[in-house]
Amino acid sequence: MTMADTPPPVSLIPQGKMPRFSTLKETFVAKYGTYPEFFVRAPGRVNLIGEHIDYCGYSVLPMAIEQDIVIAAAANDSGKIVLSNTDSNFSEYSCATDNIEIDKSKPLWFHYFLCGYKGVLEHLSLKNPKGMNLVLDGTVPRSAGLSSSSALVCCAALTTVHINGQQMGKVEIADMCALCEQYIGTIGGGMDQAICFLAEAGKAKLVEFNPLKATNVSLPQGVVFVISNSCVEMNKAATSHFNIRVVECRLACQIMAKEKGLNWREIKKLGDLQKTLGITLEDAIKLTQSVLHPEPYSKEEVCNILGVSAEELAQTSLSQNTLTVASFKLHDRATHVYSEAKRVWDFKKICDEQPHNASEMLGQLMNDSHTSCRDLYECSCPDLDHLVDLCIQSGALGSRLTGAGWGGCAVSMVPADCVQEFITAIQQKYYAKDPAREARVKESLFATVPGSGAVIYKWDD
Ligand code: GLA
Repeated sequence: MTMADTPPPVSLIPQGKMPRFSTLKETFVAKYGTYPEFFVRAPGRVNLIGEHIDYCGYSVLPMAIEQDIVIAAAANDSGKIVLSNTDSNFSEYSCATDNIEIDKSKPLWFHYFLCGYKGVLEHLSLKNPKGMNLVLDGTVPRSAGLSSSSALVCCAALTTVHINGQQMGKVEIADMCALCEQYIGTIGGGMDQAICFLAEAGKAKLVEFNPLKATNVSLPQGVVFVISNSCVEMNKAATSHFNIRVVECRLACQIMAKEKGLNWREIKKLGDLQKTLGITLEDAIKLTQSVLHPEPYSKEEVCNILGVSAEELAQTSLSQNTLTVASFKLHDRATHVYSEAKRVWDFKKICDEQPHNASEMLGQLMNDSHTSCRDLYECSCPDLDHLVDLCIQSGALGSRLTGAGWGGCAVSMVPADCVQEFITAIQQKYYAKDPAREARVKESLFATVPGSGAVIYKWDD
């Protein structure tokens, strides 16, 4: 077993977190009449660079944030999962341990819990899982690109593992959680689950896939990362935007693979294509420009190039919620992926070498990443673009959308000595302009440092 594949730690609740956990314990006792046996904490994350490339096989560079999902848990003998939420907007859910349903067409909060639960049952072949009484308390802003849903999936999985007296290593459980999110229909890549389990306080991580590996990245001294939520909500499981991008990347890859005489049905990720061809990222960008045209491809054209019927295409390349999509932008999506993959390695190299102008260079990469997400990947939105512009005008060295996009948060790199000034400027220029945003400013605009990964907490008494 490697260090990264030791199980998530079990520890005592840190003193500073006591008030929140005491309240949660009281809520649990009031509801179930017993004490929770343990708590599981799973953090959200912010991705510093490397957007929409994990599902193409490329490395990304996130860090965990302090905001998290916590579940207080105790086993019951009623054969039921009873799940309640400290946020009264989410009504209680309960079901039999052997009768769970995950509705892909209308994802609700508890479905994410069920994804993690089901993943563990299948992965460990658990036959008689214990009933569970649970109270969830979440502080990760929702539908904001900070991975609230994956944190919930990871939290559910670790709760299920622990309550049933099992153990899974961090890498094993992260890989499993990445797969089981597909029960809800999103073909995500694995970044969120990886950082949720492999994060360490004070460290951003380069996350590589296949096999999953996380390496520390030393961010330059004198800069702070500030998160600002555009307050435009986007739930990636409830729309098809996300999966359309996944499919566009797949089609771009398959058409280029076919052009190169490879078995295109077997090659579904742009990263695998690059590896198979043994070419550099720069060459992969050149290949994209020479094989693909910038105009959108109709489904018919894709079928003609690949030599398949629409039904076959559905099987080789499409997802359930992209079957009716009529046109695909392939050139721009692949160009984004290959250039973003290169920016991640450039970012890592600058962090390793720390030249005198490291922060400016990193800021430029973040800005380039946003431009590429906005123009080539088209996963931003006008409010978020406006917010990113305001961040740069207000002193950020770099700013970009983070997470899936189409709304949600920007992450900005700001010189440490002007963070307060920066926050005040954004508050005035973005949040004060709109009462609904202003009301949410405290949870929407904050500086953050790299936080620690998922943990099981026990009570000290
Ligand atoms: C979501 C997915 C991740 C990743 C990002 C975009 O958060 O869950 O796997 O694809 O979007 O970078």
